[in-house]
Amino acid sequence: MTFYSRVIGTGGYLPEEVRTNEQISQTVDTSDSWIYERTGIKSRRIAGPNETASSMAEIAARQAIEAGACDPEEIDLIIVATGTPDRIYPSTGCLLQQRLRIKNCVAFDIQAACSGSIFALSIADQYIKSGIAKKVLVIGSEICSRVVDWTDRGTCILFGDGAGAVLLSASDEMGILSTHIHSDGEYESLLYCPNPQAATEANKQEAGYINMRGNEVFKVAVNTLGRIVDETLAANNMDKSEVDWLVPHQANTRIIEATAKKLKMSMDQVVMTLENQGNTSSASVLLAFNEAVRDKRIQRGHVVLLEAFGAGFTWGSALIKY
Ligand code: UT7
Repeated sequence: MTFYSRVIGTGGYLPEEVRTNEQISQTVDTSDSWIYERTGIKSRRIAGPNETASSMAEIAARQAIEAGACDPEEIDLIIVATGTPDRIYPSTGCLLQQRLRIKNCVAFDIQAACSGSIFALSIADQYIKSGIAKKVLVIGSEICSRVVDWTDRGTCILFGDGAGAVLLSASDEMGILSTHIHSDGEYESLLYCPNPQAATEANKQEAGYINMRGNEVFKVAVNTLGRIVDETLAANNMDKSEVDWLVPHQANTRIIEATAKKLKMSMDQVVMTLENQGNTSSASVLLAFNEAVRDKRIQRGHVVLLEAFGAGFTWGSALIKY
């Protein structure tokens, strides 16, 4: 029997504090108009002092579990994608398992920067298709604000905090049609975040903040995302016109517009959350997906293309018949 991984519930959480472009332009040399024109961002959410990746993940997860009308004990596997874990260990997945009080399941984290939730979806899909797991919770949760250098105008304007979740169930109805994940470790120097505790003599001066050569990342992202669209459609023998929704990683409006153009899609078919959320790294795709499911833009039967690009570089897509 072939199983599909079907989305049975979604969830999302954004912290309360809103930080506007105007507020940022009071501390670094930038402006609302520069940020909005170059990125599409107007504001982002900032986690409170007592929030963590696992506390935000819990709220998003509980929503997905409720939407899926699932008894938490039925969950076999929890995969959390995060680059900002509460602790080095236990994994944020285990901390979430503790918060959800689920005894009999496996939980772990995966780290693929902004592509994390696509990588997690891909892993979840393999577990379900192979019959090993029946219900899998996939979360992307990030406190980017704690790894952003708020004096660096090249990065502090971009990132925000939040968590997105999907609950997948084995089903004989169609669900995830295919996932495609890739990495190329040659690009470390364009986008990285040091871990000061594990520093060598040579790099012990580096603070634990995001370092990015934005313009170079931008160019690779546009080309790579164009290729992943082709790869995904070809693998499913599908034409561009059959895709109802694009749910992209929310890094920059101009990157997203280039992908939509490649798909010959109008921006009305693209789920955009960037303007008021910024780039929430691994949370962004699942936050956007949750928003469009909950406001009923994405309906059962629609074909949805999720894609992301991030540090590593890592990149990937998931084609879903919702
Ligand atoms: O999610 C993971 C992957 N990350 C991404 O996909 C991010 C990709 N990169 C980007 O989104 C864009 O490259 C940025 C928004 C980060 C920057 O936009 P850009 O159009 O690539 O600008 P740039 O880096 O080429 O800089 C152009 C100018 C420079 O000044 P000069 O050298 O021309 O005088 C920068 O110093 O803009 C300057 N600049 C700023 N000016 C005002 C850079 N950041 C700012 C700023 N405000 N915040």
